[in-house]
Amino acid sequence: MLFCRKIPTRTPIYISCRSRLPALCRFLSTATDTSASKPFYITTPIFYPNAVPHIGHLYSLVTADIFARFTRISEPDRLVHFLTGTDEHGLKIQKAAKDRGIEPSVLCDALSEQFRRLGNRANISSTVFLRTTEARHREAVEHVWRTLTAQDLIYKGTYSGWYSISDECFYTDSQITYLPSSLTPVSIETGSAVEWSSESNYKFRLSGFRERLLDYYTTNPKSLHPSAHRERLIQTLKDEPLDDLSISRPRERLSWGIPVPGDMSHTMYVWFDALTVYLTGVGFPAEQQGSLWPPNIQVIGKDIVRFHALYLPAMLLAMGMPLSHTLLAHAHWTAQQRKMSKSIGNVADPFDAMDTWGVDAVRFYMARVGGRFRDDVDWSPEQLEKHADEIRSLLGNFFLRITSRTIQKRVASVPQLTFIQLLDQSLDGPNGDVLSSLRNLKGRVEQCMEKFEVGDALDAIILVLREANGALTHTAPWSTQSPPEAAQVTYLLSLEVLRVTGICLQPFIPEAARNLLDALGVPKAERNMDAAALGKGRVGEVKGVKLFEGKREIASGGQ
Ligand code: MSP
Repeated sequence: MLFCRKIPTRTPIYISCRSRLPALCRFLSTATDTSASKPFYITTPIFYPNAVPHIGHLYSLVTADIFARFTRISEPDRLVHFLTGTDEHGLKIQKAAKDRGIEPSVLCDALSEQFRRLGNRANISSTVFLRTTEARHREAVEHVWRTLTAQDLIYKGTYSGWYSISDECFYTDSQITYLPSSLTPVSIETGSAVEWSSESNYKFRLSGFRERLLDYYTTNPKSLHPSAHRERLIQTLKDEPLDDLSISRPRERLSWGIPVPGDMSHTMYVWFDALTVYLTGVGFPAEQQGSLWPPNIQVIGKDIVRFHALYLPAMLLAMGMPLSHTLLAHAHWTAQQRKMSKSIGNVADPFDAMDTWGVDAVRFYMARVGGRFRDDVDWSPEQLEKHADEIRSLLGNFFLRITSRTIQKRVASVPQLTFIQLLDQSLDGPNGDVLSSLRNLKGRVEQCMEKFEVGDALDAIILVLREANGALTHTAPWSTQSPPEAAQVTYLLSLEVLRVTGICLQPFIPEAARNLLDALGVPKAERNMDAAALGKGRVGEVKGVKLFEGKREIASGGQ
């Protein structure tokens, strides 16, 4: 996706922030970087409203939401700023509107609304939904352009090469191929059709940032996760030239976009426009919002690593701004092992899935199967059903079993144990295993989330639930064969399991976790990670309720 092969010899000129750009300088002076109290800023990519949302879009949203919600329960006093939105300019949208015979703005209004609806339906806790057609965004983009121009980092040049409308990306000769059955050239990486372009446009001196980018990725292991992306990027930066980037298209070709300041005959390249949205989202260029910058986590798909890992950081370096702490690049969902595509007809509809299985079941499936981010995963209704059953059974059904009247009666027939006595009497047998996993759960979940291992965090929670279900079946507190004292031990331990796992599950399945914590009478102030330590919180009056929307919890084992 490099733009031109010629490596310009001019090095960028960095101006002194204080002398030339007082407004930007004030913004930067408040943009302190790594302090722990800095608000937590997390972003998703902004979505192209050229078609209705699909499962892949929901995946980016759910992934970011898990981290946003986890931060809220880990650091309840910290502000969480969570941006999502739609990427509305560019040839792709212009073409989609033309194909439908409508104005781009009409298309964007209708489809942007679908993405907003998707976020609401999926319980995404974003705090700002930004559209790149908003005036505040245009102001931010123009400001960035002017700032780079003032530093002589933008120049007028020419471009001869390939462009893919579908990818909104420039390609060199070596990045395209011809399919055996057709004469249409396509991108080797994405398979998208490309067309030849020869035009004059504005370029950003990206080449001058190669060394600094290489240094940044080499010395910052957390900058890009999973690490394979970082290693590949470092290798590319070492092996290949980093060419200057074309950042405008002639207006007669691209009319749907932000005009280049001072040159109405050019429209900004959609990625230059789109990447700036993360700045718009914190109120840039106004100074008072500066403390939100930089993003702590930026969730992106693996197909857009280059834009976020090279172009955006170079733009930020050029402006003297701190870079995002971590780019979290997820893999893709496929269907029947193939890329989801309208023409193949294998695109999964996220609204349908949530209507059929319930929001939390879909979120759970995405995090459990897609929470490792490394390999593509296949979207399968059968697997979704299986995973939905897993959590309904391990959590919902477990909760119903433990709150049965028979058990409650037996437990009430003996004096209540103190927590210390409970710990003492849970040391052996299956309860002992539950106790030791539960004791470690908070630390384990925190450790996994710190390393962006969402799948492992969920594994640890599921393991405790599995053990607790097993211990319940084994000790059978409902049975007259088990003494009421022993029934009480299992009952109280199970409630502690539900309390702690309920807290830890909030980022993943927020609604079911809330139902559970409400039903357990856990006070709102004790639903944070601090209270997820063993014995660190209270259970109040327990009410047996259904935790999941959609299908009923399945009765299994014991009762
Ligand atoms: N508009 C750009 C992003 C600009 S960010 C400044 C874009 N939009 S997109 O709508 O095409 O994709 C948005 C996100 O959805 C990307 O992170 C992309 O990786 C993700 N997905 C699109 N299809 C996907 C799958 N099949 N599976 C998982 N996610 C994929 O790119």
